[in-house]
Amino acid sequence: MDYPMEPFKIKVVEAIPRTTREERRAAIEKSGYNLFNIPAEKVTIDLLTDSGTSAMSDNQWAGLMVGDESYAGSRNYYRFEETVREIFGYPHVIPAHQGRVAENLLFSTMVKEGDSVPNNIHFDTTRANIEHNRGRAVDCVIDEGLDPRADHPFKGNMDLGKLERTIREVGRERVPLCLLTITNNSGGGQPVSLENIRATRALLDRYGIPLYFDACRFAENCYFIKKREPGCADRDLHSIAREIFSYGDGCTMSAKKDGLVNIGGFLCTKDPALAEKITNLLILVEGFPTYGGLAGRDLEAIARGLREVLHEDYLEYRIAQVRFLGDLLDREGVPILKPVGGHAVYLDARAFLPRVPQSRFPAQALACELYVEGGIRTVEIGSLMFGHKDPKTGKDVYPELEMVRLAIPRRVYTTAHMEYTAETIRSVFRRRDTIRGLDLVHEAPVLRHFTARLRPVSAGEEKRS
Ligand code: F0G
Repeated sequence: MDYPMEPFKIKVVEAIPRTTREERRAAIEKSGYNLFNIPAEKVTIDLLTDSGTSAMSDNQWAGLMVGDESYAGSRNYYRFEETVREIFGYPHVIPAHQGRVAENLLFSTMVKEGDSVPNNIHFDTTRANIEHNRGRAVDCVIDEGLDPRADHPFKGNMDLGKLERTIREVGRERVPLCLLTITNNSGGGQPVSLENIRATRALLDRYGIPLYFDACRFAENCYFIKKREPGCADRDLHSIAREIFSYGDGCTMSAKKDGLVNIGGFLCTKDPALAEKITNLLILVEGFPTYGGLAGRDLEAIARGLREVLHEDYLEYRIAQVRFLGDLLDREGVPILKPVGGHAVYLDARAFLPRVPQSRFPAQALACELYVEGGIRTVEIGSLMFGHKDPKTGKDVYPELEMVRLAIPRRVYTTAHMEYTAETIRSVFRRRDTIRGLDLVHEAPVLRHFTARLRPVSAGEEKRS
């Protein structure tokens, strides 16, 4: 068997929508070639995101029934706080309704105009929240992390040289905090090693800069450390998590990923003065500190999810299922980012469609084809998401990586779904020479990929590009 059997059985099922190719063609045209605009009812396998799409366990559903919806002091809050303290080890736990709110609270409190915030690679909402506070988001991942084919067990690692250069260039007082995203989503769901976390901490200590984790997929990162880092094979996943977070000053977390829930997040810090400032802001924008924009029952589901996500048999199945899909594609020569990451398989769109230039959004064009071919919804992480005009020169700047992400929701799809997905992608790969790029028709000033509208370029336009 290529991967371990699911460590659960299915108690409730949800029908999967089926559509014809004609319906999908009509839907993609109507959507402005933007998969965010496609109604979910027209999607057969939804790999748009692993965020908020997990199947909860019977234990979590049971937790919803013991939700205490008191405005202040809900018992579920205390259980949630106790669980988060136990796993992450930080004294101040501030709930928020999702990860980007935790980011917004943290950055609006810590980042000032002209500041720089380094990270391995910033996720789109993280970058946008820093820029919204007039800061600069700087990516400092190791070079291997930007090369889809480089083989490295921890491609999410921070490049200490790049980090130190950034600090020196702008000056210590212009770097209010440093982030580390575990796993590194925008770089392919790649893990960061304990050794690298320790070294990052040591470097930041020399400058007195706080370290915060973007911890959305911390459990998957812990599992990779156990499997890949020398000396960690016999360690318990909880102890790895505790060690990781012991090197930080706090974290932001979207519980929609490794919290195994459909909504929720939180912010942790060691710093009591910062916690107080953030709590005051929380009351203004999210709610009282014992619910932070969530229902009591949501907090209970998060507390239970955080315990389940560190079960070794769950993580073994989870990581192996994602790798299984990657292997099915790799075997047929479909270019994917390697090694396969924790939550998603990433297609290397530049290698898949070498004739389509980045100015024509090859990853977006490929994502649209996958939808038309088999009703599979994915997300572009490339020039549409991260391309922008250089404010000084006015020239278009494109990201290094041009990818289509197949994010696998947790505990949702089966082996047969993975096989169907791989077969659909292989069909598109066989006719890849017929695929043309796209042109932007409409874009918003920030986070444009969510609402952009595009159109296919004609054969004539393609020749001219
Ligand atoms: N940080 C990382 C690394 C993320 O992947 C996300 C969300 C967030 C922060 C923000 O969390 O959605 O709860 O506000 N990533 C999702 C994705 C949306 O599809 O990768 P949020």
